[in-house]
Amino acid sequence: MWKIIALVSLASAAPTSNIDFTPLNDFSLKLLYNTYAFQESYGQKNVVISPLSIWSMFALLAEGSSGDTFNELMSELRFPNDMRVTAALHSAVSGILLRRDQDVTLDGVSGMFADCNLNIHQDFCQYAKNFDTQVFLVDTSNTTLLANDINNFICRVTQGRIAEAVSPRVLENLRMILVDGLYFKANWTHQFDPTQTREEAFYNYQGKKIGSVNMMYHKAPHNNGDLPQIGAQILEMPYGKNEQLSMLILLPFDGMPLQKLLENLSREPLTWLNEFQTSEGLSEIDCYIPRFKITSKSDMIPPLMYMGIRNIFDYGKAQMPGISDSPLYVSTTIQNVNIEVTEEGTVAASSTVVGLEDRILSQRFEANKEFVFLIREKQSGVIVFAGVYAEPSLV
Ligand SMILES: *[C@@H]1O[C@H](CO)[C@@H](O)[C@H](O)[C@H]1NC(C)=O
Ligand SMILES: *[C@@H]1O[C@H](CO)[C@@H](O)[C@H](O)[C@H]1NC(C)=O
Ligand SMILES: *[C@@H]1O[C@H](CO)[C@@H](O)[C@H](O)[C@H]1NC(C)=O
Repeated sequence: MWKIIALVSLASAAPTSNIDFTPLNDFSLKLLYNTYAFQESYGQKNVVISPLSIWSMFALLAEGSSGDTFNELMSELRFPNDMRVTAALHSAVSGILLRRDQDVTLDGVSGMFADCNLNIHQDFCQYAKNFDTQVFLVDTSNTTLLANDINNFICRVTQGRIAEAVSPRVLENLRMILVDGLYFKANWTHQFDPTQTREEAFYNYQGKKIGSVNMMYHKAPHNNGDLPQIGAQILEMPYGKNEQLSMLILLPFDGMPLQKLLENLSREPLTWLNEFQTSEGLSEIDCYIPRFKITSKSDMIPPLMYMGIRNIFDYGKAQMPGISDSPLYVSTTIQNVNIEVTEEGTVAASSTVVGLEDRILSQRFEANKEFVFLIREKQSGVIVFAGVYAEPSLV
């Protein structure tokens, strides 16, 4: 029976191109594994991310990076060594994110908000524009206005599902902000009849009941199968009449922990993604899928650092000379994602905000912990008073 569900929504490659999207999916599954590991350690068990947004944004930043900052991105974003192949991949990804059949909407927008005083290199702005990133020259010091602009940008593409992607506080000290919004809405090719939905038990991998869900039911033709190499059963439920997008549900074999499945997904070759599909007539399957809803707000820096991308987040080490003459590092990477799965279909939205800050910050000194103080006569240097302040009080 159905117990724990791992949800993976992957870019379904446009069949027209012969571009290999394996590196991208490889990145996505590794990021899912690391994000889950990080969030689970904080007791958050439902996770949903938008790996494609992260990938595109860091691919753009890689263009402006050098040294180890660049090398780490190249290896962890699984870029081909040839930058032209990378550019083609990036461009193909932008293409995937524009799909408006009459019954399936997949929409993505990218924006770059930057301080005009920063001297963002023209080449970098041009590169951003080539990949459908809208460039806005803004005064980043007015964080109220900037938050408003960014939130409107995201709100529009997500059809209001993400109204507050950032608060002005998050934008303090940022010199350049990359923003990515995604929206997906589609009906199932085979919808579920709401009158068949029943409350059912939901279990963990040890077979212990951990709660209840509203279990939807239908009998429909779907691709499905066992994937012994990763230890899970798979089911594919398509969307829309054209069936160009689908949800894959990976259900661990009995006794197999979810963490182990995620680890397998991040390590095993991705050949399984196509192997379970048959071209012959599909058999009808009894499907029980819970109706569910996840809203998550994640700081993506820790999982990206677990993956080995470190330099770009390092105040002392980041190298992005292709973006600006003033040294910058990535201080913020926040993702808001929500998804709702119902009898009718799926609605999902995400916002990703990546903020770059000056490495040479205006010097900051905050005496907010125990300290020593000395009073001296300046000319002679003689210390006249010396003390320690260690017990705070409101005087
Ligand atoms: C999706 O399904 C609902 C319920 O069956 C229907 O009312 C709606 O028109 C469908 N939407 C599209 C875009 O086909
Ligand atoms: C920020 O911009 C808004 C709208 O233009 C303006 O009303 C406000 O005074 C500005 N704030 C600062 C601190 O400049
Ligand atoms: C994947 O899962 C299967 C089934 O539990 C296990 O036997 C196999 O060793 C796993 N593979 C890896 C690479 O961990």
